[in-house]
Amino acid sequence: MATVGFLVTDRKQQKWEHRYRQAGAELPEAAAVLAENRHLLPARGRALDLACGLGGNALLLAAAGLETEGWDYAAPAIAALETEAARVRLPLRAVVRDAVARPPEPASFDVIVVSRFLERALCPVLMQALRPGGLLFYQTFTRLKVQGLGPRNPDFLLESNELLRLFAGLRVLVYREEHDCGETSAGWRDQAMLIGQRLPSDRE
Ligand SMILES: C[S@@+](CC[C@H](N)C(=O)[O-])C[C@H]1O[C@@H](n2cnc3c(N)ncnc32)[C@H](O)[C@@H]1O
Repeated sequence: MATVGFLVTDRKQQKWEHRYRQAGAELPEAAAVLAENRHLLPARGRALDLACGLGGNALLLAAAGLETEGWDYAAPAIAALETEAARVRLPLRAVVRDAVARPPEPASFDVIVVSRFLERALCPVLMQALRPGGLLFYQTFTRLKVQGLGPRNPDFLLESNELLRLFAGLRVLVYREEHDCGETSAGWRDQAMLIGQRLPSDRE
């Protein structure tokens, strides 16, 4: 079983590497959870864009003056992020790293951003990786699809209100999930976003 698990993981990583090699001149964009709520960011501190892909979140965090790292296990994505950061002259550390096998250390970041990536076992670790007062920005796809966005495998899709349950240990600042309410061709659909804060009094 262990061997099968290893092979499956390895194939997933290769799939992502292949995808980024084929991607061409795709420009990185920050996720809505961050782009629309950047006013909540602290003026300084350490920030992490976890499973960053081309690093749209990392570039925004670095532009906001935070000491930023972007981690992804797909080397071509990290190379593209390094190139883009150099082009726009933003200081950041782009790191090839398996964020599940080697997650962030406890109390190591003031801001963690995760977009379009879901590994449920990592959620408690992410809360612990925030410094007291630190912020988690999370956005990913839901099982309920009204516009057909996101992957099909339910393992990588959120149940209704699931982000609220996964991050129940945080103080919720922002939550958005529109389900199938109202005019479904409009609005922000098929995803959920949460911004949560580790309480300033929550010491190690
Ligand atoms: C759908 S992409 C999202 C990329 C980026 N966060 C975004 O919103 O555009 C998912 C990313 O997760 C990365 N990934 C998947 N599993 C990972 C792991 N265990 N460690 C680090 N990166 C991982 C993939 O390489 C891919 O870049």
